[in-house]
Amino acid sequence: MSQIIGKSVNRKDGRAKVTGQATYGAEHQISGLVHGYLVTSTIAKGSIANIDTQSVAAMPGVIEVFTHKNLPKIFTPSNDFINSKIYEARLPLSDNQIHYAGQIVGLVVADTFERARDAAQQIKIEYETQPPQVSTETAKYDKAIGMFGEDMEYRAGEFEIGDASITAAATVEAIYQTQVEIHAPMEPHALVAHWENEDSVTIYEPTQWVKGSQKTYAQLFDISQEQVRIISPYIGGGFGGKAFPWPHGILCVAAAKVIKRPLKVVVSRRQMTANTGHRSQTEQTIRLSAKDTGELTAIEHLAKSYTSPVDVFAEPCTGITPVMYATPNIKLKQEIAVLNVGTPTFMRAPGENPGLFALESAMDELAWELKIDPVELRLRNETKEHQRKKLPFSAKYFVECLQTGAERFGWSQRVMKPRSQQKEGRLVGWGMASASFPALRTGGTAKVCLFPNETAHVLTSANDMGTGAYTVIAITAAEALGLPVEKITVKLGDSILPDGGMAGGSQMTASLTPAVLNACQKVLETAQAKNAQEAFAKLRESGGEVYEATASSGPGEEGKKFAFNSWGAHFCEVMVDEEIARLRITRWVSVMNIGRVLNSKTASSQIRGGVIMGIGQALMEGCHFDSNTGYPVVYDLATYHFPSHADIPHIDVGFVGEPDINFNPMGVRGCGEIGITGVSAAIANAVYHATGKRIRSLPITPDKLLM
Ligand code: MOS
Repeated sequence: MSQIIGKSVNRKDGRAKVTGQATYGAEHQISGLVHGYLVTSTIAKGSIANIDTQSVAAMPGVIEVFTHKNLPKIFTPSNDFINSKIYEARLPLSDNQIHYAGQIVGLVVADTFERARDAAQQIKIEYETQPPQVSTETAKYDKAIGMFGEDMEYRAGEFEIGDASITAAATVEAIYQTQVEIHAPMEPHALVAHWENEDSVTIYEPTQWVKGSQKTYAQLFDISQEQVRIISPYIGGGFGGKAFPWPHGILCVAAAKVIKRPLKVVVSRRQMTANTGHRSQTEQTIRLSAKDTGELTAIEHLAKSYTSPVDVFAEPCTGITPVMYATPNIKLKQEIAVLNVGTPTFMRAPGENPGLFALESAMDELAWELKIDPVELRLRNETKEHQRKKLPFSAKYFVECLQTGAERFGWSQRVMKPRSQQKEGRLVGWGMASASFPALRTGGTAKVCLFPNETAHVLTSANDMGTGAYTVIAITAAEALGLPVEKITVKLGDSILPDGGMAGGSQMTASLTPAVLNACQKVLETAQAKNAQEAFAKLRESGGEVYEATASSGPGEEGKKFAFNSWGAHFCEVMVDEEIARLRITRWVSVMNIGRVLNSKTASSQIRGGVIMGIGQALMEGCHFDSNTGYPVVYDLATYHFPSHADIPHIDVGFVGEPDINFNPMGVRGCGEIGITGVSAAIANAVYHATGKRIRSLPITPDKLLM
């Protein structure tokens, strides 16, 4: 192997996207299409006493008004993550109860979008209101259960730090807070549902899991999987928020069935902030104890987050903690409260991201306490074993990430004293943090077709949410067949294609490219050829039309022998203009180990995207819920601040390590989420170095720098 793998290859979908040829969910044009606009609750808790739909039903262009009183039958799916999964266990409009502000309470369908919106906004609703619980400060916390029902409490060794048996020259204990964040994808949540007849529906909806969405909608409408077709060739940003149907999607498909016309529902930016998920706020207590050598003797990590009344999602902050550093004593605990807000959910590195803000900040505090360089402190606590799974890590090059990153950044020049570096009248700080994310793999199936004109197609239901899946699939096929990458056409995002698995948990490349490899090898076997050139020659000779093969690949026993994670280290420079509390990120180096890099361009891009999103989290992104209305105080892309180009320095990305062939035949792990992990801690650590101020609450806004 290796004609093209690891090179820098342009996106296969790049041209379609920049020329507007790429069609997103709501852009599908179907004749007779009508428009639905959501009616959402203006109260955060209570019930609907009366809803007057009659006057709006008579408005021009209005076709139908749906509320809890006339909702068609929707069936309850298994919601087990295998056969189906919905984001909100309560089905839309299932009763008159209100659980959060912005909850969907109706849908108005009209001939135009404007008429539907106008009518939706004029519906009169009388509520019986109750005081909502939207504050984490007064909320009641209980023990949290994981998203797969797992116990989130874990102890090994001595339980209580401070036990006489735990030797400690230094102990750090602190509380870290992360803010509510919204996914804010460029493409809003939107879909078109088209029932061709009473039992068959085509749904044009962006989804990170095409087959999962197909199975879920089939269960929701009690039809067979084959009677649902999901079309999702492009996604304008998912980040965990477009993996399963949300209530608006379910409602759109249900309403389209009743009105017997293709129906489009686009969720407004304001509505999206309330009812299509977000990352929960977290409060985490970390205690670290260490010997004077820096060797950790104990780690304790307690995390608090919240969920909504209509589903359970506990941001799994402590999951990464036993993975990072060797320690004989460890204690993990998670607590959860129920608030009257929309359901928080998966968002890029759910758990690992806020978890590593806390742990990597605490490691920095410990480094200062012990006067040990923070890179050195991490090297001294390197673990070869996953301490919870009790398995050795496969192809772990974390030490190399730290060392290479430090070298590329020039870390050895750092003076370990706060406020010791200045440039142009501004304070300069250097910070670093570790990054890690578990390597996941489920499985996938792909079909490969060789055509006599020396081209090949790869077909699978998987999708590309902007990550580069089209391109790495083409690269894999090009490599296996010995063809130029331009000769490979990749078709994705259609449920009639073989099951390509899910784009979530940074697993698509590892799940799917081994299947593509297998399918390519199988197609050559079918042709009884060693390479594609030979196969084409035979094809032409025989006058045959095409050679085809379908193959799968999935995990085997490797998970019993090894633990799989991706690793990395971030290094950054900040400059602080103290008088006006202006903070700028001026330099960035990230060095990652993700197994084999298939496309250096899109892999680097994934890491950069993660870093940029992490910078947003560190410096500006945040939202809270209005204590009176319960509504999120941000409501569009102007009020929700995330980085623009001017906020971002050049981001130097490097990769180290070797293919992880224990993990899968391609040796690839994921790179979609690891980039964001550790970013906010690296920045907070640099801010401490620059200013001597330890900021433990995100985002690091100017007011916190002034205090
Ligand atoms: Mo991701 S948060 O698994 O899309």
